[in-house]
Amino acid sequence: MPFFDLLSILIALYLASLASSYAITGVPGGVNTITGQRPFRQEFSTFKNSGPPFDLYILSLQQLQQQNQSALLSFYQVAGIHGHPYIAWDGVQGGYQAGYCTHGSILFPSWHRPYMVLYEQLLWNNAQRIAATYPAAQRSTYQAAATSFRVPYWDWAINATMPDPVNDPMITINTPRGTLSMVNPLYNYTFHPHPSATDFPPTDTIAQYNSTLRYPNFATGESQPSLANAQLQANAEAIQVLTYQLIADQSNYAPFSNSGYTDARGDAYNSLENMHNAIHAFVGGGGHMSIIPYAGFDPIFWLHHANVDRLLAIWQAIYPNSYTTPEVNAEGTFTIAPGSNDTISSPLTPFHSDGYGTLYTSTTARYTRYFGYTYPEVVDWGVNATQLSSNVRTALNNLYNPTGSISTRSVPHKYKRHSNITGPYPHPNATTSKSSTGEYQYFVNIRVDRSALHRPFFIHFFLGPVPPNPITWSHAPTLIASHSILYYPIATNTTTTTSPTYGQLPLNHALARLKPSPPDTAPPTVEEVLKNELSWRVQDFESRHVETGGVRGLKIFVVGREVLQRAGGDRFAVYGGWGVLRGATEGKVGGVGEGEGM
Ligand SMILES: *[C@@H]1O[C@H](CO)[C@@H](O)[C@H](O)[C@H]1NC(C)=O
Ligand SMILES: *[C@@H]1O[C@H](CO)[C@@H](O)[C@H](O)[C@H]1NC(C)=O
Ligand SMILES: *[C@@H]1O[C@H](CO)[C@@H](O)[C@H](O)[C@H]1NC(C)=O
Ligand SMILES: *[C@@H]1O[C@H](CO)[C@@H](O)[C@H](O)[C@H]1NC(C)=O
Ligand SMILES: *[C@@H]1O[C@H](CO)[C@@H](O)[C@H](O)[C@H]1NC(C)=O
Ligand SMILES: *[C@@H]1O[C@H](CO)[C@@H](O)[C@H](O)[C@H]1NC(C)=O
Ligand SMILES: *[C@@H]1O[C@H](CO)[C@@H](O)[C@H](O)[C@H]1NC(C)=O
Ligand SMILES: *[C@@H]1O[C@H](CO)[C@@H](O)[C@H](O)[C@H]1NC(C)=O
Ligand SMILES: *[C@@H]1O[C@H](CO)[C@@H](O)[C@H](O)[C@H]1NC(C)=O
Repeated sequence: MPFFDLLSILIALYLASLASSYAITGVPGGVNTITGQRPFRQEFSTFKNSGPPFDLYILSLQQLQQQNQSALLSFYQVAGIHGHPYIAWDGVQGGYQAGYCTHGSILFPSWHRPYMVLYEQLLWNNAQRIAATYPAAQRSTYQAAATSFRVPYWDWAINATMPDPVNDPMITINTPRGTLSMVNPLYNYTFHPHPSATDFPPTDTIAQYNSTLRYPNFATGESQPSLANAQLQANAEAIQVLTYQLIADQSNYAPFSNSGYTDARGDAYNSLENMHNAIHAFVGGGGHMSIIPYAGFDPIFWLHHANVDRLLAIWQAIYPNSYTTPEVNAEGTFTIAPGSNDTISSPLTPFHSDGYGTLYTSTTARYTRYFGYTYPEVVDWGVNATQLSSNVRTALNNLYNPTGSISTRSVPHKYKRHSNITGPYPHPNATTSKSSTGEYQYFVNIRVDRSALHRPFFIHFFLGPVPPNPITWSHAPTLIASHSILYYPIATNTTTTTSPTYGQLPLNHALARLKPSPPDTAPPTVEEVLKNELSWRVQDFESRHVETGGVRGLKIFVVGREVLQRAGGDRFAVYGGWGVLRGATEGKVGGVGEGEGM
């Protein structure tokens, strides 16, 4: 054996003996290191019909869930990084009463990227072993599928209904032992053993259940996925509009990334985190997904977060130069003291990039190409940045806004010019602009203290009568959409801190279905309609009505602007300036106060 080989083996052995942390690297299978081409994470509804990749996914997830819960790389420990139990993972110590996950923080998108990669890597490793056990006639097909295996995402902006078969208790797939019906690992996760009182505080209602639940009936301990789907469907139009607008219209990473950013937000109150919160809340409805420290245990968490990561990747391809800027983290995490200044080099605890304790940062977790995967809309090899941005904008328009009129669509009448428009209406100078489309878009903006109720809650918005029974609010025919606050008392003493959080909901889809139709959609008309028809109700995740007056820091106002040019091809729409329709919420509890500035 040549001396150098021996030396390099000795060095490798020496380095391996030092290794003390688990390296999250992403998976190499199917990556062309010359061209940069790499496999897609696929949309779930396509992926579920893929045969071998889907079979391997289900079997790999089942194996992961069966791992001894005290093992570092078990489903329980990995899901537990996000929240409970508040213990060290992979040797990264912390002391605050919170999980490692970053919310209301500039680190929200970048933290969840290596987290998803860890999960993907564990499933991929299982898939390699499982593929090798298929009968000889199928083995090479399954091994090829295992090599390019990547986790799927659920695109809730295309179809807000939870995808089949995630709500089926049983699932039928082709296993190494033939076609079998088995317990569906996407349906729930069953704790084994049930977490101790130190892992899951018994004062939490949800802690008593032995499996994860979606929209639980707390009395029977059963999931009610049809209630979750009803709420998701009632919000489907709003979800699509907000997803599209967020990417098409927010070019600054800080307000794009998180709901806790307070500086210079303008009237763009939506964020990736805000969209993400809504899905957690609608799926969970008081169950695991809607309670941050328990959310990671529901297997649908990982379908949801793959989509959140995809929207980040799409946004990054369009706005490649904007990224993490310093931001104060009001809430803190297991390792981050409340009030810390998060930056691009803050460690994304507890995720290591190597075996020697190096933690990821937002810089080293910036691109999907560092981790060997991408998404169908983001083919970033063989093109320059300009072309990539153009391709991704085209893909986004085709997917979520094919007619170019999203968020103004179905508007029943053309805008009619009024000679006496006055006041702070959208873009006063645009009404004479030649390029004007005569269309407006309107949104409700919401600002509220995250800890206003010391528990999570919805604010439901209605156009027209509010049904008397609060149980039906989440999916009422007159519902515009719901805003969700995912508060959980995390780092100690947050109950005394106030941290504003921001959200936004569209109005045009609800205005369009109003009967009788308003005569036009110009600001004075819409302001008058909203003054009479717009209202809101606050409800906690156990369906209890909460008086709006008791919600600390609540401020609701309506904004609108003119669409000067529609989207089309690789072009996003051009808008006039924002204006506030004070009359829409003035004098209502939580609305604009008299004589108050914005
Ligand atoms: C899980 O691992 C722990 C620690 O190694 C061990 O004590 C326990 O018996 C294991 N449980 C099962 C079910 O194998
Ligand atoms: C949306 O998804 C549900 C669940 O998978 C499915 O039943 C439904 O057909 C889908 N809707 C559309 C329009 O594709
Ligand atoms: C979780 O799902 C399994 C079947 O997949 C079922 O046996 C178990 O009862 C479920 N748990 C709950 C609480 O529904
Ligand atoms: C959870 O399982 C334990 C032990 O099997 C049982 O005593 C308890 O009643 C179960 N809890 C619920 C809410 O079903
Ligand atoms: C946060 O850190 C950045 C960069 O280190 C610094 O410029 C900024 O002033 C800090 N902000 C606060 C509030 O401490
Ligand atoms: C990027 O690629 C496009 C299409 O190939 C080309 O037209 C354009 O000039 C390139 N831009 C730059 C800055 O290289
Ligand atoms: C215009 O102003 C007049 C007088 O104030 C008012 O009666 C009329 O309703 C206004 N028209 C519109 C479209 O606002
Ligand atoms: C939280 O409050 C308690 C009691 O007031 C105090 O002892 C503790 O130091 C506080 N913790 C933090 C992280 O501020
Ligand atoms: C007209 O509106 C545009 C876009 O908001 C703005 O940039 C411009 O300054 C305005 N012009 C006048 C004369 O107000």
